[in-house]
Amino acid sequence: MLKAVLFDLDGVITDTAKFHFLAWRDLGAELGVTVDEAFNEELKGVSRIDSLERILVFGGLADKYSTAEKEALCTKKNDHYLELIQEMTPADILPGILPLLEELREAGLKAIVTSASKNAPGILELLQVKDYFDGIVDPASVAAGKPAPDIFLAGAELAGAKPAECIGVEDAASGVEAIKAAHIPAIAIGDAEVLAQADRVLADTSDLSLAVLRDTWEKATA
Ligand code: BG6
Ligand code: MG
Repeated sequence: MLKAVLFDLDGVITDTAKFHFLAWRDLGAELGVTVDEAFNEELKGVSRIDSLERILVFGGLADKYSTAEKEALCTKKNDHYLELIQEMTPADILPGILPLLEELREAGLKAIVTSASKNAPGILELLQVKDYFDGIVDPASVAAGKPAPDIFLAGAELAGAKPAECIGVEDAASGVEAIKAAHIPAIAIGDAEVLAQADRVLADTSDLSLAVLRDTWEKATA
């Protein structure tokens, strides 16, 4: 039986993915690295420090900065990101998400946030949706970030469910890879080519519903 839904945040619950992109693009420009939308796909779902490392490798700057300098660059990116998201309100919840959270609550399914973002609790507050969730996995508490399965396994545990009793919702290739590595069925939102590993790909969050989640879960676990 499907017992829990494990939600990515950025790009699933709200469109913060575009703000992460803008903040990395501007930091990249300062470092002389062009972060375009195609390369940004490789950053989606990836932790702050791992994203910076990927940008530095991409720009041929892998050994240029000390650990302290990299931390300062991450802080700079995050400060800019926080400026970009400060005006967010409940109107920024993506279509279909609130009705889905209401359906889950009514049906007694658990909803867990499994985001790589350390900003997740603050964003859920801005969106005023924190109460819909039964738990938020602290990304700092897991050994390895996406595409490793750790955060989704921790999410299942927090829900008190087995991985096979959950379904994960993601917009990033690294996230879908992480869900599948945890042996959890995956629904992806976005480009079907980029997200081909998912059990079902939807163009938009407005296509999400408990019926779609159940159907996908049933086919994936049959
Ligand atoms: C993920 C985003 O959800 O969180 C990534 O897709 C981001 O782009 C990562 O780097 C970490 O987020 P934060 O808010 O902790 O920098
Ligand atoms: Mg995401």
